[in-house]
Amino acid sequence: MPATTVIGTQWGDEGKGKILDLVADDADLVVRYQGGANAGHTVKVRGEQFVFHLLPSGVLHKTKLNLIANGVVLDPEALLAEIDELTGAGYALDGRLFVSGRAHVVMPYHKKFDQVREAARTVKIGTTSRGIGPCYTDKMARNGFRLYDVVDFERFRRKLAAVLPVKNKILQGAYGAEPIDEEEILAQFENFSARLRPFAADTGGMVRKALKEDKNVFFEGAQGTLLDIDHGTYPFVTSSNSCALGLPAGAGIPPQAAGRIIGVAKAYTTRVGEGPFPTEGDGALDEALRKAGDEFGATTGRPRRCGWLDGVALRYVSELNGLSAIALTKLDVLTGMNPIKVCTAYKIGGATHEDFPADTALLDGVEPVYESLPGWDDDLRGCHTFDDFPAAAKEYVAFVEKIAGVRASIISVGPGREETIVR
Ligand code: IMP
Repeated sequence: MPATTVIGTQWGDEGKGKILDLVADDADLVVRYQGGANAGHTVKVRGEQFVFHLLPSGVLHKTKLNLIANGVVLDPEALLAEIDELTGAGYALDGRLFVSGRAHVVMPYHKKFDQVREAARTVKIGTTSRGIGPCYTDKMARNGFRLYDVVDFERFRRKLAAVLPVKNKILQGAYGAEPIDEEEILAQFENFSARLRPFAADTGGMVRKALKEDKNVFFEGAQGTLLDIDHGTYPFVTSSNSCALGLPAGAGIPPQAAGRIIGVAKAYTTRVGEGPFPTEGDGALDEALRKAGDEFGATTGRPRRCGWLDGVALRYVSELNGLSAIALTKLDVLTGMNPIKVCTAYKIGGATHEDFPADTALLDGVEPVYESLPGWDDDLRGCHTFDDFPAAAKEYVAFVEKIAGVRASIISVGPGREETIVR
């Protein structure tokens, strides 16, 4: 049985949480493989709302196995808080959640470095302050703590004694920040070590075994392709490969095992944090979309920047990821807007570009070329099939499909699970 992978096609916040939860319905195994507690997936089930930062969305289905794979960076405090919240809500996770021992752990100084480095930058990135970048930096510098180093507490103690003095020297010397107390970390991590021990496993081996046994495996991406460290709008990106290309390394599977790749695309575009955003709306459009779409960050609560759909970026992202289909979300938010615009090309320095520029600096000078499509006034939230849509909404979907070069096989018209059309 081919696996299913769900990824974001924009700058994150595409409404993946709901699609993930929906697709995870058929899965035996749900695997999160990159990013960390910078992500925020909002899932609403039977009137209950959960926001997951680290846990795979399969945790709400009591029969599924959930894995946090090696490509994720783990904040033990955030992970344990989510485990406790779910256990308290009646979703016990023992025996159905495993975390890769290879996954790197976000240390208290990583969060501190995230803050002081951001404060020292003249051009800000607008990070989530969750320690993500510094943790991935240490992983690449071969200076990080893997979960295996934490669950063996004596090993943790020895390693911390070697690493922390250097971190404190940099914090104090380069940033004038307060040092971090070793005893405080030890006290906190003794508890984390004991509590996380039962969850540590070789998740890569578990996924490969499941694939061999023809189980239904579902890979859950976080953030979005335009935030990818290699293929996004660098340096205004996150520190992991958040497009589908990060899957094999992040989950420990061969590339061809990614299966069907569904790209989640919001019917318009949003971005949190700094960085170029060619279709960002002027005050009125930005405000109207934010209000209609309730566009505030699930992790930081920051207001999201909003604008029309960027077809140039979507075409690029679809090709880069080899998308099999898109899930078009929040189409209902466009109700009442007339006309609806989609950017189909960029004008840069007088020349027209249909390809997304690899040089981020070029994005600053973009004048978007828009195509105007007719809007609709009917409330889409009552539509249960594609045929129920008003003609203008059908036309809009067809236009997006043409740009993406693949079918919109899922269309979401409201936050509830039932407000979804699967074609
Ligand atoms: P970091 O991942 O905290 O280092 O933040 C880097 C950039 O990615 C910032 O612009 C964040 O706002 C953005 N970012 C990180 N995670 C997410 C996400 O899950 N959704 C949307 N934006 C994100």
